Order: sequence, then structure tokens, then C-alpha cells
Amino acid sequence: MSSKQQSHQRVFVVTGANKGIGYEVVKKLSTNQPNDLILLGSRDQKRGEEALVQLGSPSNVKVLVLDTSSKKSIEQAKEELQNKYDGHLDVLINNAGIGINDPSLKALKDTFDTNFYGVKHMNDTMSPMLRDNGRIVNVSSGLGAMTMKECSQDLKTKFLNPDITDSQLEQLFAELFKAVEEEKDPATVGFNPVILPSSDDYFALYYGASKLGVNTLTRIEARDWEKKYSAKNVIISAVCPGFCATDLNGNAQGARSAELGADSILHAVYTENLENGQFWRDGSHLPFESK
Ligand SMILES: NC(=O)c1ccc[n+]([C@@H]2O[C@H](COP(=O)([O-])OP(=O)(O)OC[C@H]3O[C@@H](n4cnc5c(N)ncnc54)[C@H](OP(=O)(O)O)[C@@H]3O)[C@@H](O)[C@H]2O)c1
Repeated sequence: MSSKQQSHQRVFVVTGANKGIGYEVVKKLSTNQPNDLILLGSRDQKRGEEALVQLGSPSNVKVLVLDTSSKKSIEQAKEELQNKYDGHLDVLINNAGIGINDPSLKALKDTFDTNFYGVKHMNDTMSPMLRDNGRIVNVSSGLGAMTMKECSQDLKTKFLNPDITDSQLEQLFAELFKAVEEEKDPATVGFNPVILPSSDDYFALYYGASKLGVNTLTRIEARDWEKKYSAKNVIISAVCPGFCATDLNGNAQGARSAELGADSILHAVYTENLENGQFWRDGSHLPFESK
């Protein structure tokens, strides 16, 4: 057993926690869990260390350098967990996220690499380290459910199929990638943008589709992991933090605070007997398809 980590200590990992909602999650965990270990994920070491200083350098918080869009970085973070923290994990909060208002294939790819594949690769890599009663929170968005609502009926039926597999899910997104690459209207393959007041149509479409992916992945993983980790009582949830003023939306006027967004996420960490594989905001169920 490493001297740096005691087996009774619970280990929390929060990705994209150097600012915004993730930072507020770490701030709350550091006071709520004084005897536990909170790993503040940051893709940039310096920004992570600055955030730690901003928190007052609490002894139960450490920086974990982690770029969720990179499989290599995820593997390195796993090795760090194994080498420094005995390979234990109790709560993983997949919070890192981006949105880009640009029609290019690169913008779509970058959005998915962090928001969708980042969550998938994190869960594939980290879930075997989860201990009993472990929890994973996939930070999603109401825009994911709104994007589902705008999909063609055919596509909606495929997303909502209770037996959908992760490779079938990836195939649905491959159609979107192909359409964008061939400069076809994404509507020809069933993806229609949610119309936002800001007219950020490509942000809405690419970001919304990535969060639709996160919601569907959450349902898939909850279903598959009931068998795989049946003895461990692992619960996985998707959570919308609500519309919060952060850098993601240019600190939108009138939006709620990032602190309230953090509370929404923490409901899925602290609520006992939480239903597996559901989508939540502020502790209330959200439908997977909504206006
Ligand atoms: N704000 C809202 O209204 C809202 C609503 C619904 C859902 N959400 C979701 O809430 C989560 C947090 O967003 P936020 O509003 O707090 O945004 P934010 O202030 O822009 O913070 C995003 C965080 O994610 C990090 N990040 C981005 N890409 C990353 C990557 N590849 N690997 C690791 N970290 C990465 C950023 O790091 P850098 O500093 O290095 O860029 C930053 O720490 C996101 O998943 C977002 O989609 C937000």
C-alpha cells in the first residue's frame, strides 16, 4: 500500500476541473470529503496547478494531468492512479467538454473527441478500477435531449432502441461524419440542429449530437455493466448541470452560477439508491428526448 493513499480513502476524479463547473465540483468535494482524495483533472499542468492554488491548496486535492481527447493521456492518467494511488477509484466525473460553432469536419471531430469519445475511452479505461458502490457521472446537456427531438424518426428509433450497442451508436455518428466530410446537409442523414436564440447552429448540432451520444452511451453502459460489475453496485448517470455562466458560452448573461451546476452533478454522486442509467438535472429525471 502506498504511503500516499490509504485504502479507506475514497478516490474521486473530476475531468476538466481547472475552471468552470468542474472546478466548483472539486471545490465542493474538497470540503465535503476532507478525508478523501480528490483528483483535479486538467489537460494543462500549469492551469491545473493554478486552480489548486486558487482553491487554497487543500491537502486532499491533487492535480491529475489528463487530456480526455487523447487515449495516450488517459492511459498515462490510469498509470498514475495505479502507481500513486493504488489503482483505486470510487467516483469518476466526466466533466471535460467543449463546443465549437464552426461547420468544419475538424470542429465536429474535435467536439466528439472530447465530449463523446473522451467519455467512452475514460469509462473503458477507468471503470475496471472502480470499487464497490462506485459511481460514474457523465456530464451531459439538455441539448442532447433536444437534439434527439430534432432527429428524423428513423434515427430516433435507432438511438432509443433499448438493445443498441456502442458500435451501433458509433455507426450512427459515422453517418454524420461522412455527411459533413462530403459537405452534405447533416439533415440528409437525419441530424437537424436545435435552433438556439444565439443562432450558433453548428455549436448546437455538433455539441448537441455529442451529448446525445453521451446520454445514449450512459444507457448502454448501465445496461451492460449491470452484468459485468453486478457484484459491485456501480451506478452510472448522465447529468445536465443546467445553463451556467462559464467560458463555454462566453459567460452568458442571465445564466445560473457554475456552483449550482456543480450541485446538479453532485446529486448523482450523493443520492442513495439512485436509479441506474438515467439522465438528471438538479436531482430530477430528464427525458432522453425533450424540447
Ligand atoms: N455551462 C453550461 O451552460 C453547460 C450546460 C450544459 C452542460 N455543460 C457541460 O458542463 C461541462 C463543463 O463545462 P463548463 O461550462 O464548465 O465549461 P468551461 O468553463 O469551458 O470548462 C470546460 C473544462 O473542460 C476542460 N477541457 C476541455 N477539453 C478538454 C480535454 N480534451 N481534456 C481535458 N479537459 C478538457 C477545459 O480545460 P481548459 O481550461 O484546458 O480549456 C475546462 O477545464 C461540459 O461537459 C459541458 O458540456 C455546460
